[in-house]
Amino acid sequence: MNAFVIAVDGPAASGKGTIATRLGAVLGLPVLDTGLLYRAVGVLAQRAGLDLDDPRAVGAIAATLTAGQLEDPALRTRAAGELASRVAIHHPVRAALLDFQHAFAGRPGGAVLDGRDIGTVICPDAPAKLYVTATPEVRAERRWKQLEGQGEAASYEDVLADIRKRDARDGGRAAAPMTQAPDAQLLDTTDLTIEAAADAARRIVEAARVRWEAAKAAD
Ligand code: DC
Repeated sequence: MNAFVIAVDGPAASGKGTIATRLGAVLGLPVLDTGLLYRAVGVLAQRAGLDLDDPRAVGAIAATLTAGQLEDPALRTRAAGELASRVAIHHPVRAALLDFQHAFAGRPGGAVLDGRDIGTVICPDAPAKLYVTATPEVRAERRWKQLEGQGEAASYEDVLADIRKRDARDGGRAAAPMTQAPDAQLLDTTDLTIEAAADAARRIVEAARVRWEAAKAAD
């Protein structure tokens, strides 16, 4: 692969988004939170009154998605996460979002993409791959605090139930299921502060960059 692409995958609230943002800032690379694409499709499909279980109808919405539609604060809500996970099971939705993600990953200077299938399906040749995880309980606590900070009240038990349901749906679907790529480095953030997790991620990526540059020089 010509550009230095960093794939950051993992389940909801594992810390992958923060890690991706920090990597982008340190390395001067643009970051795409691919979860926002699915969130936008879910929210737009619901607003249009579509049947969320209809792959073709929801896929048609995905095909019209533009970057500007990713700015909506409504995409950050708990409900949008659930809608995203539901529409993300459909092949036509995933296919319609491929070009957008490939165009972003193809930027000449490189890019960071975070999601569920970046290292396995979207950018299988990415020179740096991380799979970020943590226990469901720790992830639920993080998500609960984040929702509270956004002014969205929810009980910890409900958030934990959401996380478990999403893990099962995202990991169990036939289309590009959430899974660690064989060549991705596992980063378990259960016992790490965000600073320690971001540091560990930076070290993994720096080592990957050295290997990638050596391989290019040897070509
Ligand atoms: O990362 P997130 O919580 O914003 O993602 C919301 C949902 O979108 C997630 O539960 C599954 C789906 N998703 C996906 O299927 N593939 C991606 N690359 C990113 C998100």
